[in-house]
Amino acid sequence: MAIQFDPGTRTFVLRTRNTTYQMQVDGRGRLLHLYYGRAIGTGDLVGLYPPADHGFSPDWYPFRLMRGVSPDVLPLEYTGFNVGDFRLCCVIARDANGAAGADFLYESHEILPGKYSLAGLPAAHDEDNEAETLCIRLRDPINGLELTLFYGVFADQDVITRAARLTNGGAGVIRLEKAASLCLDLPFGRWDLIHFHGRHAMERQMQRVPLSNDIQTVSSTRGASSHHHNPFVILCDHQATEEHGLCYGVMPVYSGSHRTDIEVDQNGLVRLVSGIQDQGFSWTLEPGAQFDAPEVLLACSADGLGALSRIYHRFLRRNICRGQFRFARRPVLINNWEATYFDFNTEKICHIAEKAAALGVEMLVLDDGWFGKRDDDNSGLGDWYVNENKLPGGLRPLIARINALGMKFGIWIEPEMVSEDSDLYRAHPDWALALPGRAPAMGRNQLVLDLGRPEVVDYLAERIRTLLRDNPINYVKWDMNRNMSDVYSRVLPPDRQGEAAHRYMLGVYRLLETLTGEFPDVLFEGCAGGGGRFDAGMLAYFPQIWCSDDTDAIERLTIQYGTSFGYPVSAMGAHVSACPNHQTGRSTPLWTRAVVAMSGTFGYELDLNRLSEEEAAEVTAQIETFKRDYRLIQDGDYYRLTDPAEEPRFVAWEFAAPDQALINLVVTHPEANARPLHLWLRGLDPDALYRVERLDLHGCARVCDETVPEETPARLGAVFSGSTLMYAGYTLPQLFGDYPSVQMHLVRLADAAARA
Ligand code: GLA
Repeated sequence: MAIQFDPGTRTFVLRTRNTTYQMQVDGRGRLLHLYYGRAIGTGDLVGLYPPADHGFSPDWYPFRLMRGVSPDVLPLEYTGFNVGDFRLCCVIARDANGAAGADFLYESHEILPGKYSLAGLPAAHDEDNEAETLCIRLRDPINGLELTLFYGVFADQDVITRAARLTNGGAGVIRLEKAASLCLDLPFGRWDLIHFHGRHAMERQMQRVPLSNDIQTVSSTRGASSHHHNPFVILCDHQATEEHGLCYGVMPVYSGSHRTDIEVDQNGLVRLVSGIQDQGFSWTLEPGAQFDAPEVLLACSADGLGALSRIYHRFLRRNICRGQFRFARRPVLINNWEATYFDFNTEKICHIAEKAAALGVEMLVLDDGWFGKRDDDNSGLGDWYVNENKLPGGLRPLIARINALGMKFGIWIEPEMVSEDSDLYRAHPDWALALPGRAPAMGRNQLVLDLGRPEVVDYLAERIRTLLRDNPINYVKWDMNRNMSDVYSRVLPPDRQGEAAHRYMLGVYRLLETLTGEFPDVLFEGCAGGGGRFDAGMLAYFPQIWCSDDTDAIERLTIQYGTSFGYPVSAMGAHVSACPNHQTGRSTPLWTRAVVAMSGTFGYELDLNRLSEEEAAEVTAQIETFKRDYRLIQDGDYYRLTDPAEEPRFVAWEFAAPDQALINLVVTHPEANARPLHLWLRGLDPDALYRVERLDLHGCARVCDETVPEETPARLGAVFSGSTLMYAGYTLPQLFGDYPSVQMHLVRLADAAARA
């Protein structure tokens, strides 16, 4: 049993393979959080927080004479509001009197096999029957607000999911002004916060800062999880490294505006509160109504950041992604966006597809511009009907030609948006979000449809259903190219406008649930101007998400590095594009571009007809390499070998499986009189022997004054023990030129051979 309850002490203990989570109902009925961290045995942990009279920290009423029992200093599992705890709160609930107070007391609990689910929200699933659920019910006896805390324990995976349900069990209306998913009070210690900030075309830049004696916030108010602040944070020991030290991950399964606050309190205790963004939020609960706050995935590792990442990689692939594609090899695709932008027709697309097919590409994706009046990004969104000026006869003849080349066909859509210049907007101007009497701010000259309205979701479902039924489409790229401003829904009453942004997300999820359910054979890729909605919520519908609109291989190294802290490579959409790169103007070798894109879903986004014969042959070799290494890349354990903040010369990473490993390295800053490219490998069996099976040096004009021919074969076949490669390391040949790269494949020798 992963979940235990001791009725004598009213203690809950949740155990995963390497962690323990402990809570206790105290004598007054409050649910204290006592511990979350590396596995521990039994012992009374209440003693960690002895009563102490702290000035200006008020006592609960029954203790007013005794002093020292204050909600302001105790670690709590989910905090109330306005009843004596001045730290971050989880909920603000206002009753019919206008009074905002909340204080939850334990009522009952249940331990259930399997995993709870949340109505209308994505959440971890338990297809392999490995989870247990704990539901703890608490209640505020004064206003009747009921709180159900959910815990999903995935013991073998070292993940605990949490969620909170608020139900109005009273007689009057309650208005929620904040409803977080969880509170996590962490033990004393010296913690760093790691978060992933960025901007369009430069997402998920890892930043590590020490916690200070204030409140640090990672949040989005954009109606999307955003390019700017990814909904994933890590708290780690100040000493923690890739390989060592305690770290906690907190990842909301939510794609809208989110907020995570971290406060260091007066005693040095750390409180983290995470959930839906409360700025502009409110939710009215009539008697009997309930509100589900989104799920959050908690993971804890005592073995450093690398191990924490690998927990999330496995969990997101297995228990968040769904359907046939979560473990499947995705087709190597060619996308026409950077090849043609809006300027294409059937012939041009077929010309690109023919070359791609000849080189081994498996699917063509027709990007933006195939529908409505869409020759630039000022019009057409919402009119999901084929533009027959560009594609005479519609999609079918085009798809038939693509299929005849032996390729699958995919298409781009952006259903949540509408252009003012579109038939849809002319028919339903009120479907767009806009504040009454105000000209809305325009993003990419487009507006956001109010998916909080059921008829809008139904309309979009029908339109896309028809598109997918009428045409043999294998893949859909689902885009979302602006953030949400002017949030106001014309169908909500004035006092419920604070619900509009979350109702929008519930509408998006309903639409995605409907379509991905009806079309299980279609591979969906998420996108929001690149990685503007790269989050666990979206991964429940899209097993892959376009990582960034920045396709420059060198910039992608830091984007994919940051992304890798929380998300698996199977989720990272990555393509080889043309050089000079369209976003940065930089030129990188074709092979280096492929090495970077192969650590993702892998595809091309350029007109392959423009390549030289030699380059075209490279493309075929790249696709073969990717197909050969695919299982190792996708199923192997991912190791970051370098930290860009400490190693400016190159970036290296590794995929390790029990029987082999693939080491990748890209030189980002070539040096004169260069220092050695030395790596310490990871994830190998120290006692096993490994042979250098392949050593591909890519894109180097010269290696040590043309020593390549001698050097590479000399290194092939060399055998090292895992311990040698991990503890003494391996020095790669010197590489020369602009942004060269290396792939080194190691194969573990069978034990008999190793002994021989
Ligand atoms: C977004 C996407 C791009 C492309 C364009 C089309 O920016 O991220 O890949 O699809 O939209 O307009």
